[in-house]
Amino acid sequence: MTQPFRIAIAGLGTVGTGVVEILTQNEDIITQRAGREIEIVAVSARNKDRDIDISKYRWVDNAAEIYKSEGVDAVVELIGGSEGIAADVVRNSLDNKCHVVTANKALLAHQGLALAEMAEHNGVCLMYEAAVAGGIPIIKAMREGLAANEFSSVYGILNGTCNYILTKMQKTGRDFADILQEAQDLGYAESDPTLDIEGIDAAHKLCLLASIAFGVKPDFDALKTTGITHINATDIKFADEFGYRIKLLGITRRIDDKVMQILEPCLVPTNSPLGMIDDVYNAVYVEGNFVETPLFTGKGAGKGPTASSVVADIIDLARGKNIPTFGIPVNKLVEGQWIDVGETTSRYYLRIMVTDKPGVIASVAAILRDNDISIEGMVQTGRDPGQSVPVVLTLHEARHADVQKAAQGIERLECCSEKPCIMRIEEL
Ligand SMILES: NC(=O)c1ccc[n+]([C@@H]2O[C@H](COP(=O)([O-])OP(=O)(O)OC[C@H]3O[C@@H](n4cnc5c(N)ncnc54)[C@H](OP(=O)(O)O)[C@@H]3O)[C@@H](O)[C@H]2O)c1
Repeated sequence: MTQPFRIAIAGLGTVGTGVVEILTQNEDIITQRAGREIEIVAVSARNKDRDIDISKYRWVDNAAEIYKSEGVDAVVELIGGSEGIAADVVRNSLDNKCHVVTANKALLAHQGLALAEMAEHNGVCLMYEAAVAGGIPIIKAMREGLAANEFSSVYGILNGTCNYILTKMQKTGRDFADILQEAQDLGYAESDPTLDIEGIDAAHKLCLLASIAFGVKPDFDALKTTGITHINATDIKFADEFGYRIKLLGITRRIDDKVMQILEPCLVPTNSPLGMIDDVYNAVYVEGNFVETPLFTGKGAGKGPTASSVVADIIDLARGKNIPTFGIPVNKLVEGQWIDVGETTSRYYLRIMVTDKPGVIASVAAILRDNDISIEGMVQTGRDPGQSVPVVLTLHEARHADVQKAAQGIERLECCSEKPCIMRIEEL
């Protein structure tokens, strides 16, 4: 009879509780699929007083030592954070030849390479399906299901909170701050939403996808990140009129032997695969040279979807699967030759706030012309002589650095009342 696969869980919050519940409720089917029983032998959290029954499991006060629990095959780290106790749990476990399953994108984005090396050195696996796009099995899809392909780009809507806010702004016409408050009241956004709305959480995930897609060492610091706090109801409305939705997009692309990785709000066609992803849903759109363009979508967070991915990793380990952390052995990963974002080209959306008076548009057009940028279209709705009004321009393909320089020039005009808003237009 095959021995049970023994796990210890550090962290019994939203995801940790979900993992215990799935392993309990779906025990029979999971045992059949794993080919052996999965046994929780130990758990740890800050506080012993829990909503779920943990009386059958050994309690460990110091999570960093949970790997010492008798006969543990894998430690499941569900505490979170790029440093501190979560990092200690993972490092100690790998160092002591325990497999690790984690949902911790921050830890992986900052320390993934060193941890992957540690896992390989010790002959164990570091699994993190739940760290990227919650319930969507995108790590498995890219490392296994699509392993035959050379990837040219990956686009992702990777943060449910931002997608919820942008969708609600679009549907209600209300402004960012208002919808953020509502998202916090509904529990879709944290009380400190910085990691989400500044794009950092999504950027953590994107740098892991870039590594798998292009065989580069994950490098969070090489990633340019812009959040959604500067998007207002006017942008949403104009984008809509032009036939676009605004989405916080992670984009990684290979151009020759260089790789681009950026995370920023972009306009995508309303009826495109990513334009139709609304509310808290995540999506990843992959371009592979044989598979073409599969789209993966589903819930990117929450107890059930995230725990489902954690348990899938546990089942894979129980089956004896061993897949390199980033799809290829660590010594084959190369330093990314990162593309300077300034050199990339795209069509652009440009919203400026300018005083409604004669000659203003001519001054703006002159700045664009001087920076080698041609205007595709322009909209100014309504008139309010002497007051600040929004003017929105769409620009033909232009260099990012030129568009930024032009925006700075426009901002310096006396008639301009606030920093222009620039967004790429991505035709998917
Ligand atoms: N929630 C989601 O939808 C989601 C989605 C994708 C990925 N993730 C990732 O999953 C991980 C867990 O997230 P979560 O939402 O489940 O977090 P959470 O609800 O805040 O739970 C964190 C757990 O860690 C425990 N903990 C904190 N400090 C500890 C310490 N020093 N020693 C032992 N335990 C400690 C807490 O104990 P107490 O309960 O006793 O305070 C709690 O049980 C994070 O890496 C997160 O980024 C979450």
